[in-house]
Amino acid sequence: MKKRVLTGINTTGIPHLGNYAGAIKPAIEATKTNEGENFLFLANLHALIKCSDPTEIRRSSLAVAATWLACGLDTENTVFYRQSDIPEIPILNWIFNCVCAKGLMNRAHAYKAAVDVNVGEENNDPDYGVSMGLFCYPVLMAADILMFNASEVPVGRDQIQHLEMARDIAARFNHRYRELFVMPEAKIEEKVATLVGTDGRKMSKSYGNTIPLFAPEKQLRKAIMRIVTNSQAPEEPKNPDDSSIFAIYQAFATEEETAEMRNRYEQGIAWGEAKQALFERINEEIAEPREKYAELIEKPAQIEEILQAGAEKARTFSRTFLTEILDAVGISSLADIAV
Ligand code: TRP
Repeated sequence: MKKRVLTGINTTGIPHLGNYAGAIKPAIEATKTNEGENFLFLANLHALIKCSDPTEIRRSSLAVAATWLACGLDTENTVFYRQSDIPEIPILNWIFNCVCAKGLMNRAHAYKAAVDVNVGEENNDPDYGVSMGLFCYPVLMAADILMFNASEVPVGRDQIQHLEMARDIAARFNHRYRELFVMPEAKIEEKVATLVGTDGRKMSKSYGNTIPLFAPEKQLRKAIMRIVTNSQAPEEPKNPDDSSIFAIYQAFATEEETAEMRNRYEQGIAWGEAKQALFERINEEIAEPREKYAELIEKPAQIEEILQAGAEKARTFSRTFLTEILDAVGISSLADIAV
């Protein structure tokens, strides 16, 4: 069987440099060499779990779609669609709700973390602020993956448990009804960079330390100049392994460029110079996609068309497969029942 690689991108927030280095760039590279099939979708139903602002959801969906296209995602080699355009997914989600043990969801890290925060608070409600969406997040994710019988799912480490749960759900279904689902494997890219943010912690929207990917050039420069450094004098030798500027540089540069920069640190590079070099390196790489992004974002109707075409392709598979799944659980045309 052909390898089918599938992954989802949450549509909350605007893509930043960390997303680019850690997910977008490696994923697009991988689609070029995969001889099997690639499925990539905007997880906008998942986004509703974390975000209840419709304007933000819309803004982020457009920005995320435009970003991937601007960075060179090729819709000829990748089925690119939006989760909400595949009505088969929520139906499968329901079937899985009926297959999945509640106890399995009780053990989900994200849910347990929310409960841990609540326990000990004076409201005394372990489930305070926990929606059914959050609780059942892994079930919907299993439906995303299993709807297309993906064999490989590139994700971050934080998603490993979700893949174990998807396999658990698939196995239960296969055992109870019929062997329909392939066991999906998480694919963790070991050497992919986790970027540090402007304050030295992991670059993350929740820390407010991100550098936007497609900010205008001036703003990019400003954001880089604001990266926190220590107070070493300009000519003092500096430890590259203790510098966020170097860490970010490394994620963009080639091995030779990185070695050369390491040398400059050890020789003594002024922080201002290091920042300038970082700005130039990043800018060189993203100048072209940034222009493309600016064009695309002005043409939402064109992006919509691309997504619709992707959904149509995806549904040629999901429609047929869902009919089979429904049949397995006993939902099919009554006319087909032998009397
Ligand atoms: N949960 C994933 C994340 O936070 C996003 C996602 C949703 C996903 N559905 C998926 C990833 C299916 C892979 C496959 O990154």
